[in-house]
Amino acid sequence: MKPILLSYLVCPTCQQNLECVATILSNIDIEEGFLFCNICHKQVPIIRGIPRFVNDDQPLQGENINTAHAFGWEWQTFQVLHGLEQYKAQFFDWIYPIQSKFFEGKIILDAGCGMGRFSIVSSEFGAKTVFAVDASQAVDVAKQNLENYPNTHVIQADIHNLPFRTREDAQVDFIFSIGVLHHLDNPQQGFNDLIRHLKLSGSIFFWVYGRENNDWLVNIINPIRTQLTSRLPKSVLYVLSGLMTLGIHPILKLVYRPANDISALAWLKELLPYYDYLAWLGQFQFRHNHHVIFDHLVAPVAFYLHRQDIEK
Ligand SMILES: C[S@@+](CC[C@H](N)C(=O)[O-])C[C@H]1O[C@@H](n2cnc3c(N)ncnc32)[C@H](O)[C@@H]1O
Ligand SMILES: [Zn+2]
Repeated sequence: MKPILLSYLVCPTCQQNLECVATILSNIDIEEGFLFCNICHKQVPIIRGIPRFVNDDQPLQGENINTAHAFGWEWQTFQVLHGLEQYKAQFFDWIYPIQSKFFEGKIILDAGCGMGRFSIVSSEFGAKTVFAVDASQAVDVAKQNLENYPNTHVIQADIHNLPFRTREDAQVDFIFSIGVLHHLDNPQQGFNDLIRHLKLSGSIFFWVYGRENNDWLVNIINPIRTQLTSRLPKSVLYVLSGLMTLGIHPILKLVYRPANDISALAWLKELLPYYDYLAWLGQFQFRHNHHVIFDHLVAPVAFYLHRQDIEK
């Protein structure tokens, strides 16, 4: 943990500044130690350089515990970054019409950062400070991936209970949350809890599973996921999703990519289901697509959200 992070962190319960005791330092970073609140007398351990606001004394609630466990396993197993340029292109596509200039000099919160790929992108776009926050053990992977990005800070914390200032004291200019809110027990509450940390002039972007045009996901994959695959031991799901990737990956490479790359085959686009998404996936290697399929099957909770609810 970099010492400057202390100037941004507050006690999630009472909003007081936190004190820090460091027991192991490397250079000037705090590797081990703890933060504490003089009002609530709560302690937050710093372990392997990360403040852990999710801990035995302050656990997650409800099904969010299993969700964080599932994703912690996922990101620790699929921890390799696959092509920063592709992540940037994907990120741009999602946040359109926001451009990279928008990030310059801003304080940014990546809410549910996973292995930190979009925190890296934000840092490269010139953000002043990036908080990469995740409730799960994914933070250890994010920390490694963000090692060379001095303006980034990895924090293990729950979206519902973040250690940042709120309302008129809020400091964050931009929050983004990719693929996270729909996995919470209560996505609306997650949204409400996030925006408390935005400055009045701030903005939020979030990407969630959409209900529209996703009937087969909602009616077929979703029940299989909730009743079966999310309950399997993770290593079994790893093998199962690997076998599925063996079947799907060649189709992406041999049908979807040619339809995208060869103009004489462009007519195929109309016939292929989920063409845009699957043609895009077809540019990645087997390992990446194994990860994507595992990701679709692992979460115990996933809501498919209606556009009108999001707009509200
Ligand atoms: C599908 S992953 C997306 C990761 C990352 N945004 C990306 O796109 O690479 C969802 C992430 O949300 C995190 N998450 C789930 N519930 C959370 C919560 N209550 N607070 C913070 N993070 C949470 C999970 O641990 C997981 O890493
Ligand atoms: Zn406190």
